Amino acid sequence: MKKLVTFFLLVILLLEITISVDSQKLTLLKFVLQWPPTYCIGLNSAAPPGRCKEPILQHNLTLHGVWPADQRGNSLTCPVPPDPNWDRVFPPAVENQLMAFWPPLRENSQKRDLWKHEWRAHGACGGTTPQVYFNTAIKINNMLQKGNLFNYLKTSGIIACNSLSFAKKDIVDAIRKVFVVTPPSPPLDVYLTCIPIDSRNRTHVYLKEVTLCTNLGGTSFISCPSQSAPTSCSTGATIMLPHPKPQPSLSPPPPPPPPRRFQEEIDVEGIYPKFEQSWTKYIFNG
Ligand SMILES: *[C@@H]1O[C@H](CO)[C@@H](O)[C@H](O)[C@H]1NC(C)=O
Ligand SMILES: *[C@@H]1O[C@H](CO)[C@@H](O)[C@H](O)[C@H]1NC(C)=O
Repeated sequence: MKKLVTFFLLVILLLEITISVDSQKLTLLKFVLQWPPTYCIGLNSAAPPGRCKEPILQHNLTLHGVWPADQRGNSLTCPVPPDPNWDRVFPPAVENQLMAFWPPLRENSQKRDLWKHEWRAHGACGGTTPQVYFNTAIKINNMLQKGNLFNYLKTSGIIACNSLSFAKKDIVDAIRKVFVVTPPSPPLDVYLTCIPIDSRNRTHVYLKEVTLCTNLGGTSFISCPSQSAPTSCSTGATIMLPHPKPQPSLSPPPPPPPPRRFQEEIDVEGIYPKFEQSWTKYIFNG
């Protein structure tokens, strides 16, 4: 009996060692889509706060980025590569395709800023050239037969509405229609992330991002590995899709208007002492 226990302990130990050695192994790609109104709410309350370009898209989930990840679904990190010749990476045909599903949402950001950032922060860890990275993004997007993930949500009644909220399962089921082929594939897992509606509300959250996983070539969807860390959309969460909110003004508040009452105050100066006296009398005698 003792021997058996020791044996199993040894096996568990070995498994753990193997897993930790493998933990940065490039295994899959995460295709991370965002709901623009939620992104903008997050941006408005970031430090320092930012603003979105208006109008804010409300009929599309747009791509945040394609993130190479390990077998546990954790994004890989790597040194920032030297910049390539961006004009070669983004010939007009590529740029136009990327703009349709991967637009920059932040006010004043240039057309290519988000793409360059995603290549530097994530794409370069995937061991391909930038050309292959951006073409893979286009390829994965083209696997969505209804064009945009929003269309899958909408068909299942998942829409932005102040009076509608959804269970996590409803949203995941709607997204899984992306993967339905004949014969039906087993249900693939996806990741959802959410942000709180506000600091006081503990029951409802806003849907922020949906992550689909693909193989390294970006030629087929696979199940996102189950993650041990709790996600920001817990199983019991009540999830909403916010409408776009008007973008706040970020310039400092305008200086107060010139003191127009100054003249008046001089005019009535004589009245104050009298008023104050009678008021004090009222309090202390009353
Ligand atoms: C919405 O998404 C579809 C498919 O990804 C794209 O063709 C269309 O241009 C997008 N609409 C806007 C306004 O960006
Ligand atoms: C949280 O937000 C939802 C949706 O706006 C609302 O129905 C609910 O009453 C709020 N709960 C609290 C405690 O404020």
